[in-house]
Amino acid sequence: MMQFFISNFHLVTYVLVFSGSVLESGWASTPSQIQLEANAIMNSGWWHLSPSHSHHICSWIDGISCNDAGSVTRITYKYSERSIQLVTLNLSAFKNLEHLEVSNYSLIGSIPSQIGNLFNLRHLDLSYNSLQGEIPLSIVHLSKLTYLHLFHNFLRGEIPSSIGHLSKLTHLDLSHNYLQGKIPSSLGHLSNLTNLTLANNALHGKIPPSIGNLSKLVYLNLVNNVLYGEIPPSIGNLSKLNYFHLANNALHSEIPSSVGHLSKLIYLDLSYNFLRSQIPLTIKNLSNLFNLDLSHNYLPGKIPSSLGHLTQLFSLIISNNNIEGPIPSQLSLIRNLSVINLSCNKINGTFPTSLSNFINIQYLNISHNLLTGSLKPFSVEHLRFLETLDLSYNNFTGPIPESLNAHNLNLSFNNLSGPIPYRLDLYELIGNEGLCNNISYMQTEYLFQPCSVRDKKPRQNQLVIILSITIFLLMAFFLLLYLRHNSIAIKSKHARITETSKNGDLFCIWNYNGSIAYEDIITATEDFNLKYCIGTGAYGSVYRAQLPSGRIVAVKKLHGFEAEVPSFDESFRNEAKVLSEIKHRHIVKLHGFCLHKRIMFLIYEYMERGSLFSVLFDDMEAMELDWKKRVNIVKGTAHALSYLHHDCVPPIVHRDISASNVLLNSMWEPTVSDFGTARFLNLDSSNRTIVAGTIGYIAPELAYTMVVNEKCDVYSFGVVALETLMGKHPKEILSSLQSISTDDGIKLCEILDQRLPHPTFSVLQDIVVVAIVAFACLNPNPCSRPTMKRISQCFLCQLSPFNIPLHHISLQQLMSQELRQYLKL
Ligand SMILES: *[C@@H]1O[C@H](CO)[C@@H](O)[C@H](O)[C@H]1NC(C)=O
Ligand SMILES: *[C@@H]1O[C@H](CO)[C@@H](O)[C@H](O)[C@H]1NC(C)=O
Ligand SMILES: *[C@@H]1O[C@H](CO)[C@@H](O)[C@H](O)[C@H]1NC(C)=O
Ligand SMILES: *[C@@H]1O[C@H](CO)[C@@H](O)[C@H](O)[C@H]1NC(C)=O
Ligand SMILES: *[C@@H]1O[C@H](CO)[C@@H](O)[C@H](O)[C@H]1NC(C)=O
Ligand SMILES: *[C@@H]1O[C@H](CO)[C@@H](O)[C@H](O)[C@H]1NC(C)=O
Ligand SMILES: *[C@@H]1O[C@H](CO)[C@@H](O)[C@H](O)[C@H]1NC(C)=O
Ligand SMILES: *[C@@H]1O[C@H](CO)[C@@H](O)[C@H](O)[C@H]1NC(C)=O
Ligand SMILES: *[C@@H]1O[C@H](CO)[C@@H](O)[C@H](O)[C@H]1NC(C)=O
Ligand SMILES: *[C@@H]1O[C@H](CO)[C@@H](O)[C@H](O)[C@H]1NC(C)=O
Ligand SMILES: *[C@@H]1O[C@H](CO)[C@@H](O)[C@H](O)[C@H]1NC(C)=O
Ligand SMILES: *[C@@H]1O[C@H](CO)[C@@H](O)[C@H](O)[C@H]1NC(C)=O
Repeated sequence: MMQFFISNFHLVTYVLVFSGSVLESGWASTPSQIQLEANAIMNSGWWHLSPSHSHHICSWIDGISCNDAGSVTRITYKYSERSIQLVTLNLSAFKNLEHLEVSNYSLIGSIPSQIGNLFNLRHLDLSYNSLQGEIPLSIVHLSKLTYLHLFHNFLRGEIPSSIGHLSKLTHLDLSHNYLQGKIPSSLGHLSNLTNLTLANNALHGKIPPSIGNLSKLVYLNLVNNVLYGEIPPSIGNLSKLNYFHLANNALHSEIPSSVGHLSKLIYLDLSYNFLRSQIPLTIKNLSNLFNLDLSHNYLPGKIPSSLGHLTQLFSLIISNNNIEGPIPSQLSLIRNLSVINLSCNKINGTFPTSLSNFINIQYLNISHNLLTGSLKPFSVEHLRFLETLDLSYNNFTGPIPESLNAHNLNLSFNNLSGPIPYRLDLYELIGNEGLCNNISYMQTEYLFQPCSVRDKKPRQNQLVIILSITIFLLMAFFLLLYLRHNSIAIKSKHARITETSKNGDLFCIWNYNGSIAYEDIITATEDFNLKYCIGTGAYGSVYRAQLPSGRIVAVKKLHGFEAEVPSFDESFRNEAKVLSEIKHRHIVKLHGFCLHKRIMFLIYEYMERGSLFSVLFDDMEAMELDWKKRVNIVKGTAHALSYLHHDCVPPIVHRDISASNVLLNSMWEPTVSDFGTARFLNLDSSNRTIVAGTIGYIAPELAYTMVVNEKCDVYSFGVVALETLMGKHPKEILSSLQSISTDDGIKLCEILDQRLPHPTFSVLQDIVVVAIVAFACLNPNPCSRPTMKRISQCFLCQLSPFNIPLHHISLQQLMSQELRQYLKL
């Protein structure tokens, strides 16, 4: 959609020369209407014609029709091999033209204002072309127009506010352009309008209440714009409406209860907005509704049981909202319901047993909720169309029924127990600690327990078997314990264990192939003298140590008294374990660590420039950190997090991403550090925990859910990315994130770090991409945040240039779904 255009100079020159030569050949001095039209056709250069055709344009040229008097009434252009321009056809000549259709051909240039001279035009279709420029104001003089189709072009500017003069319009489609500004309120005068499509533009502002006057409207599509404010209650007057699409806007507040009047509605899509009211009870009136999509909003409250009245419903999508309470059993009254997507809500209770009535169900996704109870309701034999059943991330308990059957099944992260039926894919079962299996690789790789072996063998063998298994298990247990204790040591081939009797139970491991000794560190830091201290973090102080070899390392020391607190010991082991297994360019390298009663420290690669936070804080250094470097820092950090989340098994959540934990080396390249609070997913299926992290970077949902997952890191990353662009922590923006969409004033360029010169065009595109990514990460709804993998991919791929004025891009535009989708986030 967004490309560069080349204006076609050759063509214009050619046409001017050609028309000159025809004029020379001389027509009558006061030419008749028919001659004028023939003249215009001949001169346009659209058709390959010889002068001998000029008296027969009605009969000779395919796509041109005339009235009885021989005057042209209809032009449908049929050739598509080359680019043509509307301006080369002298539109003023066609007094009787009723139908002009040049669709899906390479029409370039702009729409000339002479189009307003076609007073008899009823049907204008210029869709699927490469038209640029604005919609000419003169178009509102076409008072007989019923069809106006300009979709899929590159039109800019605003919709003429006087468009309400085209009172005979029945079809208006301006979608897939770059139209800006507001939807003119005068649209309300188009009382015969049946189809209105303004989708995929950059239209701002509110939906004018006058839209409720369009009482004949059947199809209304405004998706992918930046419309905000409320959905006007007057839409309740659109009693003939069948299709109502408002997805991907910034609409606030509530779904008006007047939607209940739209009794002819078949398709209602309000997804991807900021709607915050309960689902109106009046929705039960929409007895013809086939498709209901309210996903990706902030809808609170319960699912109204009266939804059961929607007997024609085929697809019910309410995912990614704040819906709580139970799934009403009345839903099972809807016989034809085939797609149910309630994922990412706070729905609790058990699943209604009346599920067996959903005989047509094909797709059921209730993942990421708080549902409990057994899987019995899902194991009904006659759900013969069930393709997809996603129950992951709930709290379902009990065994997996043998008869549970779906091609695409996900039961992971529940509380299921008992043996695993053979045919199931194990990946779909992880995160269920109670499940058991007797195949050893499953036990080690997926952390399933072995099943007890009762009732399987004849009695006399039983004792022997139990005994041998117990012995085996005991041995395995001790072996495991031993391995666990030493796993860090075994992991690295370069590791070297040093024990010195002088210091008692000192235990050091060096990952570094140059040699470092415990004594070297103590000497280099003069036994951790404060003058070598270069920073203090939540879990200890960092010292700079120059080794005898001249090499500089950073030593992070946990204080003695802290080391005695079990959580610090754990944090230390965590960090050591995580880092000893990771090798990534943008993750800090661990050279080794030492454990001792008195002292615990970790030795890292030294980062000359210190933390991103300290660099941004210092005016001189901040100015050295130009836009290109800043973009690279954000990208490097994204790659590191993507690696932790998606390439490590089990995935690692850092949990404390902040500008202080992104360190910079002499080349200004970033490395992620401070894994003191990192946590492995899967080991503990609940992932519920005390809040760790740095104030100002913690994802908002942690305040109430306490569930830590990758999306928390994604949020913190968003804060760091924005901070890197702004040069300071984006406090105000974070707190106004909810209301920002009503305040379209703020431009990206205004919030960029003012200490740096304005970005040049070449880097501005990168900055805009970083900003889009950052705002996507800051989405209050964790499910709507992109994954680090997507972000990392997005930074790696070569994007074609945006075709929007980047210097004027507003925060609100950055948050639009259209730009997110362009980056495939
Ligand atoms: C276009 O048509 C109008 C009216 O028919 C005529 O006056 C004008 O000269 C024409 N222009 C050209 C460039 O042929
Ligand atoms: C446009 O025309 C091409 C062939 O000329 C055809 O393949 C394509 O489907 C058309 N697109 C539309 C939207 O009509
Ligand atoms: C709307 O359509 C009806 C019937 O087609 C017609 O009688 C009426 O004049 C139209 N209204 C306007 C404002 O054109
Ligand atoms: C527009 O209205 C016509 C009926 O006039 C209908 O058949 C068609 O599907 C509608 N177009 C769109 C894009 O919905
Ligand atoms: C359109 O609706 C508005 C209120 O919604 C009303 O004031 C106005 O008179 C209506 N205009 C027409 C042409 O029906
Ligand atoms: C429908 O339109 C009438 C006037 O045309 C207005 O009085 C009424 O409030 C509107 N109904 C709704 C639900 O907006
Ligand atoms: C429901 O629809 C009926 C007729 O279809 C209508 O009379 C009633 O006013 C509607 N109720 C609401 C709340 O819209
Ligand atoms: C269910 O759908 C079928 C066709 O898909 C239709 O014939 C039938 O009327 C629908 N049943 C109900 C109760 O709407
Ligand atoms: C259900 O919702 C989730 C989350 O919004 C989405 O990933 C999935 O594609 C949806 N599935 C369907 C069939 O709508
Ligand atoms: C179900 O919804 C979740 C989002 O909550 C999504 O991640 C998942 O892919 C969906 N499952 C299927 C099978 O579509
Ligand atoms: C569901 O959650 C609500 C609070 O959101 C609580 O009042 C209710 O008791 C819960 N129901 C069940 C069955 O847990
Ligand atoms: C899941 O349910 C069990 C009881 O069935 C309860 O003990 C446990 O706390 C629940 N877990 C969560 C995370 O809600």
